[in-house]
Amino acid sequence: MQQLSAKLKAEGFSIGLVPTMGFLHEGHLSLIKKSKQRTDITVVSIFVNPTQFAPNEDLKKYPRDIERDKRILKKYNVDYLFLPGEDEIYPENYQTYVEVNNISKTLEGEFRPTHFKGVTTIVSILFNSVYPDFAFFGQKDVQQSVIINRMVNDLKFPVKVVVCPIVREADGLAMSSRNIFLSPKEREDALVLYKSLKSAAGIIKSGERNSSVIVNNMLEKVKSVDSSNPDYIRIVESETFNEVKKIIDGKSYFILIACKIGNTRLIDNILIKM
Ligand code: PAJ
Repeated sequence: MQQLSAKLKAEGFSIGLVPTMGFLHEGHLSLIKKSKQRTDITVVSIFVNPTQFAPNEDLKKYPRDIERDKRILKKYNVDYLFLPGEDEIYPENYQTYVEVNNISKTLEGEFRPTHFKGVTTIVSILFNSVYPDFAFFGQKDVQQSVIINRMVNDLKFPVKVVVCPIVREADGLAMSSRNIFLSPKEREDALVLYKSLKSAAGIIKSGERNSSVIVNNMLEKVKSVDSSNPDYIRIVESETFNEVKKIIDGKSYFILIACKIGNTRLIDNILIKM
């Protein structure tokens, strides 16, 4: 991969990287489309990264279908698929990790304390393998994209991070590889994530500025669904990711929700521009 990327760059081509864990859906495809618009060569990586899963999480169960993914990538004329093996990425005696401090500890980091360390480590390895000029990430995992941006700035990676909007099913559910785990009833219940976010946006529009009122209103909605078990609902400033007590005009915020529906943990968020 390094030799290929070095050659492409020497020939003057710009490279776009779309890092994924496979089981591709329209969300991934939106990043691929953006990369194809912005760059000469698009590389999609597929690697189910073990270091970002805690021992009790769903690494073994994570959905995989590499033949289907390959067909999709061919259909979309993706230039290269980077499909490294686990022992190439983490050979025996591997011991180096990249960790972004504060912002990895809140929200997702509270519930998945080792998750972002695994993400920033693998993304560093991918950057050092593919030499991308642009790397494309989804707002679906907005904290992840903010952390990667922080890492790129702090460690001076020569890459521009591009964050793309959330792609949703027709009824509003954010697309996710994990949606396949939902039973038909849970699939219905899962709509409550986006519905509660939309209702929060409505409440803010009609004048509410107090975060805890907005969050409690969302919690009530979410808890009215049998199979739901929320981890957190928070309102944070969009740049710093600091939690806020009050919403102020002229600023931007993310409202974020993480919620289990049955055994499946889902996340979603919306951007609020005041
Ligand atoms: P994965 O969950 O496969 O997601 C790959 C990329 O697709 C991420 O940037 C994610 O935010 C984006 N994405 C997922 N669902 C989306 C949706 N509905 N709309 C828009 N974008 C969406 O995120 C990871 O993999 C991993 O943590 C990775 C960055 C590859 C590191 O292992």
